[in-house]
Amino acid sequence: MKVLLTGGAGYIGSHTAVELLENGYDVVIGDNFVNSKPEVLEKIKQITGKNFKFYEADFTKKEDVENIFKTEGDIDVVVHFAGLKAVGESCSIPVSYYRNNIDSTLTLLEMMKQYDCKNLVFSSSATVYGVPKTVPLKEDMPTSCTNPYGWTKLMNEQILTDVAKSNPDLSIVLLRYFNPIGAHASGLIGEDPNGIPNNLMPYITKVAKGVYPNLNVYGNDYPTKDGTGVRDYIHVVDLAKGHLKAIEYSLKHRGVETFNLGTGNGYSVLDIVNTFTAVNHVNVPYQIVERRPGDVAECYADATKANQILHWKAEKNLEDMCKDSWNFVSHQS
Ligand code: NAD
Ligand code: UFG
Repeated sequence: MKVLLTGGAGYIGSHTAVELLENGYDVVIGDNFVNSKPEVLEKIKQITGKNFKFYEADFTKKEDVENIFKTEGDIDVVVHFAGLKAVGESCSIPVSYYRNNIDSTLTLLEMMKQYDCKNLVFSSSATVYGVPKTVPLKEDMPTSCTNPYGWTKLMNEQILTDVAKSNPDLSIVLLRYFNPIGAHASGLIGEDPNGIPNNLMPYITKVAKGVYPNLNVYGNDYPTKDGTGVRDYIHVVDLAKGHLKAIEYSLKHRGVETFNLGTGNGYSVLDIVNTFTAVNHVNVPYQIVERRPGDVAECYADATKANQILHWKAEKNLEDMCKDSWNFVSHQS
């Protein structure tokens, strides 16, 4: 079974590549390294002891994508991770976000049609729930967005739904990820963003490493248990395993289906800081600052649908996530 991972050198894609290779899939990765490094490819080989094909390719460019399909011939499933993902940056350079995140999907769909590939798994996000009226979030709840990045995800969901409707032979699975953190247990791959991190865990690990003096906790006056924002943090290896289930599902079903991939548990910013310091025996000084514009108080999944239909459930707990994040970062130079 041959699976093409667009953006497979990235954080979630690299962990998914490991799980696929370890489960006997034939993996093909395409990436332009706009937000990842070529070294990741060697690490995937080191972890799995297995080889795979790699193409340096920009998925917005027809010739690059056509080259992959033409050379490979028989791709059974595409998992489309490739995309730009920084919320703040998407507000400053929205055209680049729309161009990259929408064009890549359209180009991919054209090539899939041309080369008769019928199965696609798409990386969507819990951001499509906008400002939730109630939690936990179920797949059929209303969607909306507060930033261009989020709109690219929602627009892609709409495009893929329309395309699935137009061709009953197609199978499209939309996966709405909640907040992936953690790293592979080997410590060889993990999240390594360039520049100042926007997200909580990469910032915490930089504070623990002494790169920054303290963490800014964005607000402690939310209507949550300790006043700080609550999210559904999910171990990236659990998330990667969810893709295997989604691939299996896509091969057996037609049409479009949406699944939340989260744990169903909400943890506050201070829960994360306290667990991280306790399990890793490191200090994470923090200060409470103003709320970050655009943040919501609480966002966590109802993960029942993925459990019932995909037979998938997140297995790792918050301690595992905090340990594995630190194991990866503390071994980086
Ligand atoms: P990432 O930035 O680590 O990985 C994305 C990869 O895609 C990178 O390797 C990048 O170089 C590549 N890429 C981007 N545009 C490309 C293009 N035009 N052609 C070829 N390669 C391209 O991000 P991630 O955290 O692994 O996220 C993967 C997907 O999941 C993204 O679509 C992201 O929006 C989505 N997602 C991520 C999160 C999260 O918190 N990490 C949450 C919800 C959804
Ligand atoms: N936070 C801080 N300090 C920081 C960074 C974050 O207090 O330095 C807080 C935020 O205010 C929020 C929580 O930590 O309460 C989580 O923030 P993240 O930036 O890590 O994650 P978000 O939930 O804001 O968004 C992330 C991705 C989105 C994705 C969404 C899916 O950035 O792309 O998860 O749920 F859509």
